[in-house]
Amino acid sequence: MSFTIVEQCPARLNRSELAVPGSNTTFLEKATKSTADVIFLDLEDAVAPDDKAQARKNIIEALNDLDWGGRTLSLRINGLDTHYMYRDVVDVLEKAGNHLDMIMIPKAGTAADIYAVDMLVTQVEAAKKLKKRIGFEIIIETALGMANIMEIAGASKRNESLHFGVADYAASTKARTTVIGGPNKDYHVLTDADKKGKREVHWGDMWHYPIAQTVVAARAHGLRPIDGPFGDFSDPDGYTAQAKRAATLGCEGKWAIHPSQITLANELFSPSKEEVTKAKRILEAMEKAQKEGKGAVALDGRLIDIASIKQAQVLVEKAEQIKGAK
Ligand code: GLV
Ligand code: MG
Repeated sequence: MSFTIVEQCPARLNRSELAVPGSNTTFLEKATKSTADVIFLDLEDAVAPDDKAQARKNIIEALNDLDWGGRTLSLRINGLDTHYMYRDVVDVLEKAGNHLDMIMIPKAGTAADIYAVDMLVTQVEAAKKLKKRIGFEIIIETALGMANIMEIAGASKRNESLHFGVADYAASTKARTTVIGGPNKDYHVLTDADKKGKREVHWGDMWHYPIAQTVVAARAHGLRPIDGPFGDFSDPDGYTAQAKRAATLGCEGKWAIHPSQITLANELFSPSKEEVTKAKRILEAMEKAQKEGKGAVALDGRLIDIASIKQAQVLVEKAEQIKGAK
């Protein structure tokens, strides 16, 4: 283990993250009953420029007047390159800051972007004596943001999660995509010819690199890595495939741009009963081994060691967190 201890951000369930446009009051009201772990109220790209001011008012009203039943709430502000952003922070925090848990910073490009928002939030928080400390969710969705991801991840004590924003990332890198967050058949390899001369097309995951980068930068700073949107909400199988590969790489959750994606995300990012049972057996076996002075033992014909304890603990803790939230 390194002498540098990675401090962990506050433990929040973040399997599903529902996007709700601030311009739509019906959607805001519906979201109060949502089963999403986190709900982000959007002032950015789901809101047209002419609707920004009204959306801000709607969100302030929704935060103050609706019963959110203790749900985790975030506010996606506009980018630092716009003239909307300072009001997004100041107006919403001043008027409804006690109902908000986090602010989501889109299109973060450098650590200084996070520093600037931190400065603003810190001032409003102190002036208004806000009861909750606002956390930051950061979307990595530009080539610049990806190039600076490590510094961004460590830029503020408020940081809680890094999100891979595939739609803007594709635009920024000029990647060729068909569906937001989906695969592209052109990203493939051809197998060598078999005896009959037949070759197979194997599709690859064109998002592997940015998601893996997001996971590493987030985990190295004690943050939650979260996979962003999947655009085709009439394709649950496509969503499931993308969510599973993100979970396999270490992501804790995925966005839901439609309510139908929430249940899928909650399920796909929860450890299964079998996984939890197995993890508990590993912990028991290792406890016994350690009492006997052994560093490694066999369980069901496979070697387990100290590293297995940590993985098992993560699983068991996650299962307990989910049970506690029900
Ligand atoms: C999210 O904001 C994205 O661009 O994918
Ligand atoms: Mg975006």
